[in-house]
Amino acid sequence: MSTEPVGGLEMTPEAMLRLGRRATEILVERISRLGTGKAWDGEFRQVLEKRLLEAPPETSRPAEEVLEQVARDVLPYAARLDHPRFFGFVPSSPTWPGVLADFLAAGFNVNACTWLVASGASQLELVVVDWMRRWIGYPDGAGGLLTTGGSAASVEAMVAAREAAGNPERPSVYMSDQSHSALKRAAWIAGVGREHIRLIPTDDRFRLDMDALAGRMAADRDMGLRPISVCANAGTAGTGAIDPLGAMADFCGNEGVWLHVDAAYGGFAVVTDDGRARLRDMERADSIGLDAHKWFFQPYEAGALMVKDIARLEKAFAIGHDVLQDTIWGANHPNFSDRGQQLSRAARALKIWVSVQTFGMAAFRAAVQNGLDFARRAESYVEDSPILEVMAPVSLGILCFRVHPAEGNCDPERLERINRKVLARVFWDELAFLSSISLNGVFALRICIVNHTTTWEDVRRTLDAVAQFGEEAMGEV
Ligand SMILES: Cc1ncc(COP(=O)(O)O)c(C=O)c1O
Repeated sequence: MSTEPVGGLEMTPEAMLRLGRRATEILVERISRLGTGKAWDGEFRQVLEKRLLEAPPETSRPAEEVLEQVARDVLPYAARLDHPRFFGFVPSSPTWPGVLADFLAAGFNVNACTWLVASGASQLELVVVDWMRRWIGYPDGAGGLLTTGGSAASVEAMVAAREAAGNPERPSVYMSDQSHSALKRAAWIAGVGREHIRLIPTDDRFRLDMDALAGRMAADRDMGLRPISVCANAGTAGTGAIDPLGAMADFCGNEGVWLHVDAAYGGFAVVTDDGRARLRDMERADSIGLDAHKWFFQPYEAGALMVKDIARLEKAFAIGHDVLQDTIWGANHPNFSDRGQQLSRAARALKIWVSVQTFGMAAFRAAVQNGLDFARRAESYVEDSPILEVMAPVSLGILCFRVHPAEGNCDPERLERINRKVLARVFWDELAFLSSISLNGVFALRICIVNHTTTWEDVRRTLDAVAQFGEEAMGEV
């Protein structure tokens, strides 16, 4: 069967099927063997350049060969964020129906920009946004859109906040010193001077200090600044800390300032009763950013921005495009490009809808709950270990800890050297992938458990390895 193009840039149906099958085989093989291999691979640019840097070829090659090359020489050189023992940064473990939905959306070539151009995908986005509205506990009248990720959601939230405040001169923004860099960058993009992005100190559990927030904002108002937004964390990427959401909502209500919640990492915990209790009052925020490519098991890119009053988002972003004057369908038929910065947009709702339809919410809830439970069990493991120490209490799916000898020399520099050595050992040993964090200047190991394929055995084996490498490092450092 030929896979030669039929002419120009087209392929025969046979060639398309054969290539599609081969791509599927490659993926299924990768996914089914993931847990038995290493959690990370990477290569130096010098090496990769030798294999890949060339002028674009003028003539054709067999398509299978091109696929095999990409599967061999390109894609494996990556953090395997969906490996069951990948615990670094924020892991991501997409469901297979979600992956296929992205493939289908690309194949149908849907542009979810306007109702006229994509009514099916637009309706599905309304449905998925409505699911999110219910999970969060937002009222009717709330709405949102799917974005590339948490960074884009933050930018859109910040612009909406700025417009709601009347686009003032000398705007200022407030967030904890644990907030994600994406929020700071979003504030710059929205036109807030870097010197007017206020990083508010946190307490011993890395939660924003309300007195410090109130003091800073009052001083800023005295200086003539115009606060446009306070950003709360519903799960910091560092320690999983949840800011005092209720107190922040009260404060913002009194101050007349937009409250945005960055729930990119932790927000989907709300689908469980446990997570919902921890994220209590999140629904009082004006806007919330969430990432379904984190704790809702979707392929990248699956962010979302939810806004309590959807009209405020559309007021900030809706614009007439001359070339699209035919795309005004009418009332109650939203154009999603009026809710954010993108005109051409992938049909991102499809993957969420398809995977929830396939597995049902009970399975999603159980998978999120596993992350919460395993993180708590990991904390107990660390507490019970004679040589491990909790550095930040478990919050949602994250635990920060370190090796700490029960006796002997425990000076901070030695402890850091021991823990750096352990982290490097875990990395080179290839059993698992952990990352580190600096907590008030103190080096700590960090484990983030949000993968639906991770078992307690995966977590336990990783902690066993940390404890064992810690013992050995103590003898060497
Ligand atoms: C808490 C938090 N906010 C924002 C972001 C940025 O999200 P994205 O990478 O989807 O743009 C992340 C990413 O890890 C995050 O954990």
